[in-house]
Amino acid sequence: MCGIVGYIGNRKAAPILIKGLKKLEYRGYDSAGICTLNDKEVIIKKDIGKIEEIDKKISLTNLEGNIGISHCRWATHGAVTKENAHPHTDCSGKILIVHNGIIENYSELKSELEKKGHKFKSETDTEIIAHLVEENYKGNLKEAVLKALKRLEGSYALGIIHSEHDELIAARNESPLIIGMGDGENFISSDVPAILGDTKKVVYLDNKEIAVLTKDNVELFDLDGKKKDKKVEEIEWNAEQAQKGGFEHFMLKEIFEQPQVISETINGRLEDSDVLINDEIKLSEKEIKEIKRIIIVACGTSWHAGLVGEFMIEELAKIPVEVEYASEFRYRDPIVDKNTVVIAISQSGETADTLAALREAKKKGAKIISIVNVKGSSIDRESDSTIYTRAGPEIGVASTKAFTSQLVVLYLITVYFGKVKGVLPAEQVRNRVRDLRKLPLQMQSVLEENDYIKLHAKQFYKKTNALYLGRGINYPIALEGALKLKEVSYIHAEGYPAAEMKHGPIALIDKEMPVVVIATKDNITYKKVLSNIQEVKSRGGVVIAIESKGDEEVKKIVDHNLYVPENSYILTPLLAVIPLQLFAYYVAVMRGCDVDRPRNLAKAVCVE
Ligand code: G6P
Repeated sequence: MCGIVGYIGNRKAAPILIKGLKKLEYRGYDSAGICTLNDKEVIIKKDIGKIEEIDKKISLTNLEGNIGISHCRWATHGAVTKENAHPHTDCSGKILIVHNGIIENYSELKSELEKKGHKFKSETDTEIIAHLVEENYKGNLKEAVLKALKRLEGSYALGIIHSEHDELIAARNESPLIIGMGDGENFISSDVPAILGDTKKVVYLDNKEIAVLTKDNVELFDLDGKKKDKKVEEIEWNAEQAQKGGFEHFMLKEIFEQPQVISETINGRLEDSDVLINDEIKLSEKEIKEIKRIIIVACGTSWHAGLVGEFMIEELAKIPVEVEYASEFRYRDPIVDKNTVVIAISQSGETADTLAALREAKKKGAKIISIVNVKGSSIDRESDSTIYTRAGPEIGVASTKAFTSQLVVLYLITVYFGKVKGVLPAEQVRNRVRDLRKLPLQMQSVLEENDYIKLHAKQFYKKTNALYLGRGINYPIALEGALKLKEVSYIHAEGYPAAEMKHGPIALIDKEMPVVVIATKDNITYKKVLSNIQEVKSRGGVVIAIESKGDEEVKKIVDHNLYVPENSYILTPLLAVIPLQLFAYYVAVMRGCDVDRPRNLAKAVCVE
């Protein structure tokens, strides 16, 4: 989704803005622009395409001036054109604005402003904000912005400057925006990575707040202009974590980080026969015992994590679980009460649909536990409690390390609830903890198969379709494997429960259709999956199996074998997904795709 970076200070703004903007590329965008003020002179440059291409074409980085705003746009209102790219200006060209979000009453405001003589140059909802500020401007920029904001319905994160003011104004409603506090300089940004190299001190803007930044000062106000004091927070991530660290792509780096990330996720949260998350979960033992139902809400890969969580929680903690697409949940008047716990899963903590689902559940009295990677994000702040995944910044649009760390947190919650409810005796808790501790090393051993997986990708990268099959707890892994392939390589792929294949997808099977089957050993679905593989084979399908190390049975009947070590049934998905991530990655690279910035996708979807 769109990204904003703004700067005010003593340094030249443009290189800082473009460096920051490049750090936000992972959010997904189709055009970009920058504006700086050089001694009252306004310099604007914008175009469609990637920042690097635009920079080569019209040189964005060498603009003069110490104040500036910049933006990468993911089109919502108006086509992908240079005119629609931000920054936008008012009629006088003195008020400059960048915006993330959607102004819902823009057409009504636009006709009102047109009647007053304002002339519009773009088809965007954003441009009306610049004109609305102009309409209210009487020499005080902050006052004009406050008046304009009162008229807006919808979501916004805004960066606003005026050629006659040495200040930068930021405003937020439902779209993330942070203020970075430097020494003799200050920043605004949609996300932490953009400013990580410059400062670690941040203030998270809340809804309906504005900030007035000068180079030496930051002041915060509510929409009535009342001054607010807010805590300055320290970012825990470091700049290196947001670099590729020698890998060709962030996605590959993040796949390889998983053993280390999982160690971090469990660090300090385990004892020999206990899970130490009671302080984070903030529910009393009585409240946990009274939980009648859990609803998991999430989108995309996080939703797949939720599906795995459903198996974990029902099997070990014996609490009924429903997993909902966050986008559907709020539109069907869900039955939720005070004995319902809603778990919201989100890497970014900013997915608009997940946030809306959380609010709907909260309104109805449910307790909200969130599983979030980004501290200070909206979902983090609006939940009753948050358990952080501690995956570090995830920059690749296709989620990898966030997924496995979400699964680990779900497992921690499961074992903890099982223990408190008395359905998991101490001995079992001990075994479950022991299984979890094995994971980082086991993940490492799967990653050591990297070259072997790459060889397989070479045999399949020209295919146009793929089917992914799994059963039980591995069905969501089939979904996730298919999603990874679709996202980064643009090959059409479907995930299906292996047995359901007979009710439709089997018609697609021929020698051109690679069928990836998760066929790891367990006492639950393994034998059945073997039969499903036979069904594919007898119709000429080519089978790539994810199987347990040392398994001879699967090996005999499939065409390609990718191995993972054995762990408990419940934890196998965390291992089985790794070869699928690597497979998707290499197929995409071989097809020449832009792996970290797949077309049309956004890392954090902040609009509904
Ligand atoms: C986007 C991303 C996916 C992600 C999904 C949910 O679609 O491209 O990778 O899984 O949003 O994001 P969240 O931040 O809520 O986990």
